[in-house]
Amino acid sequence: MNVLLTGGTGYIGSHTALVLSQFGHQVTLFDNLSNSKKSVVARIENIIGRSCSFVEGDVCDTALLTATLAEYSIDAVVHFAGLKAVGESSENPIDYYFNNVQGSISLIKAMETQGIRTMVFSSSATVYGSPQQLPLKEEHPTDPANPYGRSKLHIEEMLNDLAQSNQDWRVVCLRYFNPVGAHDSGLIGEQPQGTPNNLMPLITQVAVGQRSELRVFGNDYPTGDGTGVRDYIHVMDLADGHAAALEFLKESSGWHAINLGTGFGHSVLEVIQAFKTVNGCEVPYRFAPRRIGDVPEYYADPGKAGKLLNWSAKRGLDDMCISALKYQNLVEKAS
Ligand code: NAD
Ligand code: UFG
Repeated sequence: MNVLLTGGTGYIGSHTALVLSQFGHQVTLFDNLSNSKKSVVARIENIIGRSCSFVEGDVCDTALLTATLAEYSIDAVVHFAGLKAVGESSENPIDYYFNNVQGSISLIKAMETQGIRTMVFSSSATVYGSPQQLPLKEEHPTDPANPYGRSKLHIEEMLNDLAQSNQDWRVVCLRYFNPVGAHDSGLIGEQPQGTPNNLMPLITQVAVGQRSELRVFGNDYPTGDGTGVRDYIHVMDLADGHAAALEFLKESSGWHAINLGTGFGHSVLEVIQAFKTVNGCEVPYRFAPRRIGDVPEYYADPGKAGKLLNWSAKRGLDDMCISALKYQNLVEKAS
């Protein structure tokens, strides 16, 4: 298939581009480079051993999207493009609704114009809000706690309405848990602009001495060791999940929300310990107050992904920690 990846030079998009290419799909990356670099395209080409099309543009530009869908004879779209910083979304909510929701409307309009009605959408476990029971199943009520999460839920609902209005639409909303790690080559990975918000990029920056210590937010949660527990998933497993979703959509119409997680939670201290052990390095940390908005614990029930997509996560926490540091070392060398 010819597949358009909006946000394709970003962290998850670039890893998915590799997997889809290796699966035999022809990928076209579409990105405005607001949170990624064009050099990622050459790195993807280096790994897959062939060229990869790239269009610089904004998903809010419906005309450019329409022309791109036509030029590359696109059959399906994986829609990653969006803003994703939870804290920033509370400061600038309208940016989040504009970029994420309006961007998705623009994409849907362009797809309708071209008669393309297959989409895999990057959603998030954040749509569930504070868990009422664990593990989180897809039927769990949705109640996101911030504008970022609400923008994701709005898009999910919009896509659901669309699929109900026209039986030709085939949509999978993948609800990611906590993606971490990088491709084995260390050539692509997560490169946040400015200060990272997420745990793993902060750990790698501390490990290479870019930061003096990690702050562990909260050690008094009702969890095994008092620190927050999350379902960390290797980004390559997540990428495999997109290939599986596209296969599923060849045979299935309608709208589907599907968790992509491992089903296992790890505490912050467990992640730090695993990182130190497999990489043989120090990660100095100190306990700090709880971060506002954090929940103590959540992890996925990945059963639906197993059943519908024939997918399950294969890689463990050790792989996530090794590959994350390998990528960080490459970033260090390049800078
Ligand atoms: P990322 O920022 O690395 O990638 C997003 C890409 O989209 C970037 O390359 C950025 O330049 C591009 N982009 C943003 N707005 C755009 C626009 N208007 N037009 C064109 N391109 C645009 O983020 P990521 O971690 O790869 O996340 C990809 C998707 O997955 C996002 O939608 C995010 O909300 C979702 N998600 C991420 C996580 C996570 O922890 N990384 C968790 C759950 C869901
Ligand atoms: N943490 C620290 N110190 C830090 C950063 C994080 O102790 O400096 C802790 C957090 O308190 C939490 C855990 O590490 O217990 C994971 O935090 P992250 O910020 O890495 O991830 P979150 O679970 O808070 O949120 C992430 C994404 C969201 C997404 C959500 C679900 O940032 O966008 O996963 O997919 F919605």
